[in-house]
Amino acid sequence: MAEPSHPRPLPAEHPLTTGATASSSLVQAYRGVRSATTPVWFMRQAGRSLPEYRALRADHKSMLDTCLDPALASEITLQPVRRHSVDAGIFFSDIVIPLRLAGVDVEIAAGTGPVFDRAVRTAADVDALVGGGSLRDDDDALEPVREAVRRTVAQLGATPLIGFAGAPFTLAAYLVEGRPSRDHLAARRLMHTDPDAWARLMAWCADVTGAFLRAQLLAGASAGQLFDSWAGSLSRADYVQHVAPASARALSWARGLAAGDGTTVPLVHFGLGTASFLDAMKDAAADVIGVDYRLPLDEASRILGGTVPLQGNIDPALLAAPWPVLEAHTRDVLRRGRSAPAHVVNLGHGVPPDTDPDVLTRLVALVHEAGAE
Ligand code: CP3
Repeated sequence: MAEPSHPRPLPAEHPLTTGATASSSLVQAYRGVRSATTPVWFMRQAGRSLPEYRALRADHKSMLDTCLDPALASEITLQPVRRHSVDAGIFFSDIVIPLRLAGVDVEIAAGTGPVFDRAVRTAADVDALVGGGSLRDDDDALEPVREAVRRTVAQLGATPLIGFAGAPFTLAAYLVEGRPSRDHLAARRLMHTDPDAWARLMAWCADVTGAFLRAQLLAGASAGQLFDSWAGSLSRADYVQHVAPASARALSWARGLAAGDGTTVPLVHFGLGTASFLDAMKDAAADVIGVDYRLPLDEASRILGGTVPLQGNIDPALLAAPWPVLEAHTRDVLRRGRSAPAHVVNLGHGVPPDTDPDVLTRLVALVHEAGAE
């Protein structure tokens, strides 16, 4: 799959260009440089674990409409940064937002996830989707995203904002099934029954999700993360042949965006259950690999040849364990993370909605103290 080439300079007011976030522990770690303290943030740090989030959502605006309201999206992004003193904000949005902005009829069903008006099952469905519209990073449709990022970055100052997008396979896993599924059988079937239609679908997803990520980065996000949450349902061979080229194409939209001094926006690639093709995820143009809770960080580092900064991987289940158990686990994660050039502490997947937020605050303090020892 050919990768498009794109113009590269970041705007003069971008926090990496002005230097506001360039020396932050997060950006440094993503570039492979350790700071006095190990940076930490949590997947799904914004969301239902926070009472202030639940209060804002009480107006019953839909999840996706909330994401597209710049004032709300910005405030929700900032809430966990204020409360927990994490080292980064992650933009409050969703991986299906670019699909919605490209004209796809999708909603988030509470407790379930993305649900589509119609599934994309056949070659004709793929052609209708691809012919129905796309998304470019300079489209007006992305203005609520750009505005929310600008507002957030203005408040964050020296704390970096992480932009993100869903990887093409994870988006396709939803689109082809029409809703969440356990093993993504419909998507994996299409991949093999009609590889050409599959490739067209993946290229479309790559460009739409790439536009969403690129828009966040140009508007002020200091790093980008590609979530391939459901890639773990694939064999290595299928990942390499049918998926990795599209992920590389998605990341190509974000690749090489450069500040005046030539440094570029770091890119993180995360999947669940992807130990057997972690190296291929790195080769899809990522700088940092996000590791789930199943694979110890020292093993991940060994797979990657010891040269790749890692992010992860506290088991979200342990957030509910007695503090000494969580503390011992976190120290073990930090110790294993020493095998990588640099380490950003995170969970191995998202914060469970019933998590006690005080536990997250205490965990941030632990990581910061431990790093200084
Ligand atoms: O704090 C953050 O991490 C930033 C916000 C964020 C959300 N979704 C907000 C959200 C991010 C990074 C995502 C990405 C996302 N969305 C992924 C990849 C990461 C992962 O978890 O694997 C996926 C697979 C989705 C699709 C999706 N959206 C699911 C499965 C769900 C959960 C459904 C539910 O109700 O449990 C959503 C909805 C969603 N996205 C919520 C949030 C805070 C919950 C909605 C609510 O508050 O009602």
